[in-house]
Amino acid sequence: MKFTLRLVSAIWLSVMLVIGAFAYLQIRDERERLVSDLQRRAVLIGEGLSDALEPAAARQSSAAVERILKKLGPAQRGIAVYDRFATLMAATPDVAGTLPPSLPEVTDTVSRNLPTQGFRVLGDVNRFVYATPLIYDNQPVGAVAVFLDASHLNQIEWDRWSYSAIRFLVLAAVISIIAALVVKVSITRPMAEISEWTRALRSGRPVPPPNVADANLFGPLALEVSRLARSMQRAQAAAQQEAALRLSGESVWTEARLKQFVGQQLAGRLLVVVSNREPVSHVWRGSQIHAQAPASGLVTAMDPVMRACGGVWVAHASGDADRETADARGRLGVPVDDPRYTLRRVWLTKEEEQGYYAGFSNEGLWPLCHIVHTRPIFRPDDWAYYLEANRKFADTVLDQIKDAEAPLVLIQDYHFAALPALIKAERPDARVAIFWHIPWPNFEAFGICPWQPELLAGMLGADLIGFHTQYYCNNFLETVDRALEARIDWERFAVTRGEHETHVKPFPISVAPEFVDEPPRISRAELLRRLGITAEFVGVGVERIDYTKGIPERLRALRYFFETYPEYRERLVFVQLAAPSRTTIKRYQDIQHEVEDTVREINQMFQTKTWRPILYLKAHHEHRDIWAYYRHADFCMVTSLHDGMNLVAKEFASVRDDEDGVLILSRFAGASHELRDALIVNPYDLAGMAEAIRAALEMSPDERRLRMIRMRHSVVEHNIYRWAGLLLSELARIPVEMAGAKAS
Ligand code: F6P
Repeated sequence: MKFTLRLVSAIWLSVMLVIGAFAYLQIRDERERLVSDLQRRAVLIGEGLSDALEPAAARQSSAAVERILKKLGPAQRGIAVYDRFATLMAATPDVAGTLPPSLPEVTDTVSRNLPTQGFRVLGDVNRFVYATPLIYDNQPVGAVAVFLDASHLNQIEWDRWSYSAIRFLVLAAVISIIAALVVKVSITRPMAEISEWTRALRSGRPVPPPNVADANLFGPLALEVSRLARSMQRAQAAAQQEAALRLSGESVWTEARLKQFVGQQLAGRLLVVVSNREPVSHVWRGSQIHAQAPASGLVTAMDPVMRACGGVWVAHASGDADRETADARGRLGVPVDDPRYTLRRVWLTKEEEQGYYAGFSNEGLWPLCHIVHTRPIFRPDDWAYYLEANRKFADTVLDQIKDAEAPLVLIQDYHFAALPALIKAERPDARVAIFWHIPWPNFEAFGICPWQPELLAGMLGADLIGFHTQYYCNNFLETVDRALEARIDWERFAVTRGEHETHVKPFPISVAPEFVDEPPRISRAELLRRLGITAEFVGVGVERIDYTKGIPERLRALRYFFETYPEYRERLVFVQLAAPSRTTIKRYQDIQHEVEDTVREINQMFQTKTWRPILYLKAHHEHRDIWAYYRHADFCMVTSLHDGMNLVAKEFASVRDDEDGVLILSRFAGASHELRDALIVNPYDLAGMAEAIRAALEMSPDERRLRMIRMRHSVVEHNIYRWAGLLLSELARIPVEMAGAKAS
């Protein structure tokens, strides 16, 4: 209210000043025009009479002057004649009685012999006085004064001021009403909505921001408020979680605990994570830029860690709008709407991307490490690009840590085997770890790589090498033993080359105990309605389309199931979410075709008018949209032919806070060592998998619940915060003198 009052007062004052100034100027001009009009008339009259009056005035004959004035007749009014002493000689009757004995204008004219003018009130009438000298024989003989009625001047002035006052009142009133309305619609109402929204957020309800009309005005405010609310909610959730844990006497790793732990362990040292895949890429969709989270287990795992720890994440810029959304050095805050860490993007040329990523990493190392009977391809050019890309990432990391004292660098995955040594060579004080997210095969299998010694030497530049399982650690140490000159300490699981020691340890990766972003919680009925299906049972598979994931095997197991158990036809729909992946590689194009053909074939085989056994959703699915599929599935199938860990399995359990749902899990996925309550299958055994599907559908609710509770317990306890905490503390524990020694 006060604001509106202030605004309206300011409007009134401004309008008054503007209208007043304009009225003043207009009235002044008008007056000047009228005065010059009077002056013109007076000059005409005065000068017209001068010739006739001058001889009479020279003679000092008042009678002669009077005669002349009389002769002018009644039409001529307002004239007085004065002698050379400025004494009145004669005047027309209309002014005669009102004239004072002396008039300053006349005195002035006579003394200076020049015309003079002014205004005088004579007999209650305001008059314009014009006096002009009378000259006879070049001698001043008196003056004639002309008196013109000027009372209309005041009237006109008054009228103009009144008109301006009315105009001011009307204008000020109209503007005030409009301003008050604008304030109400654009400020008061949106502010009320925003404060209502803030109140809702404060109470912990996840309410979307109101649709305020003026995004320019209120957008930044809404953004800041939602950030604040999110931090508050996080703090509240952490406090509740801590309180719950304290009550139950347990000590589970949470985001808050990791944050606290990192604060103590790192003591302000910079944490840099390096991966090929970026946590968020920006892509053009028409004329709009869209932020996209990739289908990547690595990102699912590392993003919560970075949100908790802060620091810098260096990654390959893969989106076509990545440049537009980063600063000149390729940096931006992530998450975009509530930045918790910095993403630093690295740009690669098309050739580098092809050789390093598609070629050496994914046609070479990927099939080399996954034993799934796809032959690795090793091309010398790809190897050269791999080294070049590693060098580029090393330069970026070195630039990022140049001012940081004893930073920690966490390198992710098989794309960067050469990177640890490159970083350590320049910055021996940096503690460097590399975590290998895929399996490490036995030494014979790995030995076929033509650049085995170089890869191992690059990795051994690190202070710490992490794998998902002890089995992979053993395979790695054996590979080193066979391929390089190095001392292996099998008791401490450490390798010494020259002066440098590298520790090799298992750190089974995991997921956050809860979905990081608040997902849209839709019901099962709504999900089925959106999918356009009716089904008594729903199964789900969530994958990148990759030949290691065993998708065709799973589909064939479903076919076997429907053949063996026809009573489940028209009752079960299996929904396969499949994100296209590494599509420039021939083997990936082939697997896409194989999956599509198999889906088509099975659907044709069993479908009825109202039912299809498999719903194949080939697209990139946003991470938060997958929640509903996990949550409402009766079972989830993870049937990898070989997998380092597989986080879909863990994520499925983490989402099932209803303690229901069955997990069918490949024994060749690392996750099967931890999730023992899943139905463990051999993905090559179709009959065994079909049997697992039947068992999942027919399992008693009690057994389902018991199994899920145990799996959830395992995921909650061995979560990603614990993984990061153990890995970072192990890395931070490495003695400084060891970290200070040059890598050989
Ligand atoms: O498992 C290895 C890995 O790098 C994962 O971290 C990730 O889930 C997957 O491969 C993603 O592959 P890409 O980054 O090539 O799409």
